[in-house]
Amino acid sequence: MKYKSIICLIFSVLTLPLAGWGKPETTQAVSVVKLRTELLNNPVGIDATQPRLSWNIAGAGRGIRQTAWQIIAASSPEKLASGQGDLWNSGKVESDQSLHIRYSGAALKSNTHCYWKVKVWTNKGESGWSNSASLTVGLLNYVDWKGRWIGADHGFPWDSETQWSRLSARYLRKEFDTKKEVKHATAYIIGLGLYELYLNGQKVGDQVLAPGPTDYLKGVKYNAFDVTGFLKAGKNAVGTVLGNGRYYTMRQKYKPYKIKTFGYPKLLFNLIIEYKDGSSETVVSDESWKLTADGPIRSNNEYDGEEYDARKEMPGWSTPGFNDSKWQEAEFVQEPGGTYEAQMNENMKVMATIKPVSIRKQGAKYILDMGQNFAGWLRLRVKGAKGDSVKLRFGENVQPNGELYVRNLRDARSTDVYVLKGAGQESWEPAFIYHGFRFVEVSGYPGTPTINDFDGRVVYDDMKNTGTFSTSDATVNQIYKNAYWGILSNYKGMPVDCPQRNERQPWLGDRTTGSYGESFVFDNSRLYAKWLDDIHQSQKEDGSIPDVAPAFWRYYGDNVTWPATYITVAEMLYRQYGDLESIRKHYDPMKKWMDYMAGKYTQDGLIIKDKYGDWCVPPESKELIHSRDPKRQTDGVLIASATYIRLSSIMEDFARLLGKDQDAADFAKRAETIRQAFNKKFFDESKGQYSNNTITANLLPLVHGIVPEGSRDKLVKSIADKILVENKGHIGTGVIGTQWLMRGLSEYGRADIAFRLATNRDYPSWGYMIDNGATTIWELWNGNTANPTMNSANHVMLLGDLIIWYYENVAGIKSDPAAPAFKRILMKPDMIEGLQSASASYESVQGMIKSEWKRSSGTFSWTITVPANTSAMVYIPAKSAEQVKEGKKKAGLTEGVKFLRMEGNRAVFEVGSGNYSFTSTL
Ligand code: BGC
Repeated sequence: MKYKSIICLIFSVLTLPLAGWGKPETTQAVSVVKLRTELLNNPVGIDATQPRLSWNIAGAGRGIRQTAWQIIAASSPEKLASGQGDLWNSGKVESDQSLHIRYSGAALKSNTHCYWKVKVWTNKGESGWSNSASLTVGLLNYVDWKGRWIGADHGFPWDSETQWSRLSARYLRKEFDTKKEVKHATAYIIGLGLYELYLNGQKVGDQVLAPGPTDYLKGVKYNAFDVTGFLKAGKNAVGTVLGNGRYYTMRQKYKPYKIKTFGYPKLLFNLIIEYKDGSSETVVSDESWKLTADGPIRSNNEYDGEEYDARKEMPGWSTPGFNDSKWQEAEFVQEPGGTYEAQMNENMKVMATIKPVSIRKQGAKYILDMGQNFAGWLRLRVKGAKGDSVKLRFGENVQPNGELYVRNLRDARSTDVYVLKGAGQESWEPAFIYHGFRFVEVSGYPGTPTINDFDGRVVYDDMKNTGTFSTSDATVNQIYKNAYWGILSNYKGMPVDCPQRNERQPWLGDRTTGSYGESFVFDNSRLYAKWLDDIHQSQKEDGSIPDVAPAFWRYYGDNVTWPATYITVAEMLYRQYGDLESIRKHYDPMKKWMDYMAGKYTQDGLIIKDKYGDWCVPPESKELIHSRDPKRQTDGVLIASATYIRLSSIMEDFARLLGKDQDAADFAKRAETIRQAFNKKFFDESKGQYSNNTITANLLPLVHGIVPEGSRDKLVKSIADKILVENKGHIGTGVIGTQWLMRGLSEYGRADIAFRLATNRDYPSWGYMIDNGATTIWELWNGNTANPTMNSANHVMLLGDLIIWYYENVAGIKSDPAAPAFKRILMKPDMIEGLQSASASYESVQGMIKSEWKRSSGTFSWTITVPANTSAMVYIPAKSAEQVKEGKKKAGLTEGVKFLRMEGNRAVFEVGSGNYSFTSTL
């Protein structure tokens, strides 16, 4: 068992407009409007002894820039209010930095509280003190955990452990007394695979399917809750229910060479009660707890569903005084192994509730249509006799004859069962499973069900929706909506490939670029930082990284493109969120992997290992999953080597950021050596083509800076010809090419082609999916006709760089790579024939960015919002700077707007924070 230092934060986001506790101290032109640490919501934990603190500034007027900051941190709210920074008083620090400031005060100890606030100085004056934020330090060391792991390391007579395991949930309980007046109580729980926690009959927290999944042999996550308000004077009771999740995996004794299993559900629990007199005590998991597996949850299995027998309910089981004499003593069980880590990323929650759109009779059953494909479950209301049993079977589609379509679920049974207790109106929803579905087959329902008897519960990680996007084009808007639903459906404490069939694995390759596009739509910074840890934990001693991490499926295939995600996600976190910590933490293992791949798989100067090719290109026949036509396939060595060159240049940047100049030079050299071999082997200069001239073969060298000087135009033409002539204006790329296609076309002057691909409605295209009933994004371009064995209707990998293109190229909201985390924003929307307007907002880590442009009868008008403490480079389509107005005046004459230069048919201005309204003549 390795020990690990951990801090847990209990934190709230503050959005009060002005400073101080209660009343503002002064009325300033600027104020600190939002405080943040790595973690936003309760319950939370941060995996660092020096939490990183961030804030946003707001204020009237333009061009606000921070010049200095001061943080005070105290051990009590009273001390903080009176300005006593007994933990930390930074003093005034001259700096424009407002993100990721390291806490550098007194060492934070386990289970202690820290309250902090900040004030800033700016070019427009000084703010008052912000409101305060607080954090609670978690259990920093393994030895801080008291008690033992409990559970039952075996099944029960009614369980069955097979390819379709049925394992009942375990209920654990204990009573305890509070002896004095309670000042503070914090519950720490590691409940594996999944837990629900109750205190005195009340559920603690609104998280579901917690904690986040990990490779439990390497590390397990704990959750922490402030439960002060749950405790009563005198007798109390704590109860937990343990579900299986990924710990007791759904498929037991089945393909063990491939599928990892960990053991039976288990619990480690500490409740630290601090009394007002300064003393404290800890209620721990130990042999005094009682356990039963003979409760209402008879079976729970992520692929197959949950079965609940309400007749088995045990009213009052988590309140004091319940008669548990029939329960057995909890057993001491094997520790899971690995580190105990505070969970840094958000837990899942029921994030929305949607109503079905229709229900119809189908033989003796009913088919319910939710109108939207999503991941989650159904909440049921029903009245009937004791023992009536309602069966719900979930699927993404229906067959032509109206029956539920389940062939693409493979062997996942996706079925929930509710057995009634016969007590009038009953309501139920499952606890430990989810389904990916749009349609539900209902059978055994007593009486006639109506849509009012069901609610769709949409379940994903509790992350904020940060972006909005719409344009004058209905197809673009609908695809964006489908993408939104696809992305949220596949956030499950890790990014999974799909939520419906017997897979649901965190495939790396699906997010290489997708994670970046998604970051505009959701604040996924904590999820992806956690995923980097998962990937790191899955790395083998020799450096090899699997295609799936956590490696619930053991897929160590040693290709370049899937594991590349380890590096590209870290790059995304830095570019979009300014997270340098992830680079610092993972640099060595990333380098180890780069060295491992080059050491093992270099031949004739190229990286020769590839496994998936340009996965899922549109195939020649609509029944196929993968093309067999060599003309459509891109050489794996080309894909691997081009990707490796790109990764080398990211590693070069990382090395520079970390001050590792020698490494930076080495990576630059490595990239150059491969580049030369690459061009020698694949480039036909006379034709301006690489390899067999697929779009992907030409695109990768183009966007990765591999093409020899002077040959780019020819290459762009080859790509354009392929799309426009051979493909008659259609997409011809798979998962790899599509990651660069839209940006590549825009960057090299063919935004018109990108727009055509974005708005096509015939095969193959995203629009085709919509015309064929998709409400999310398909795994295959031909998802309505291909073999069902690999054909999910809710995958995100074919989005490629589409969402990035929407925000950066269509709306014009892009973080300047040279000034990451939107410190400088590049606002350069493409002007595309056929697109009249676009409107987007993005709540960046610096604050809200907006862009809304319109074109009509020769006039371009554009309103933008730039957050405080940032600047933007604004590229306005115009024949000359003279023709550009801001508000009513000539731009360049108004406050905060500086004309820089003409660049082709754009007038380039630099602006500071604020709202601006530009117009120009086209
Ligand atoms: C998954 C993909 C994954 C691929 C790689 C498929 O079964 O659904 O998302 O990346 O396999 O093999």
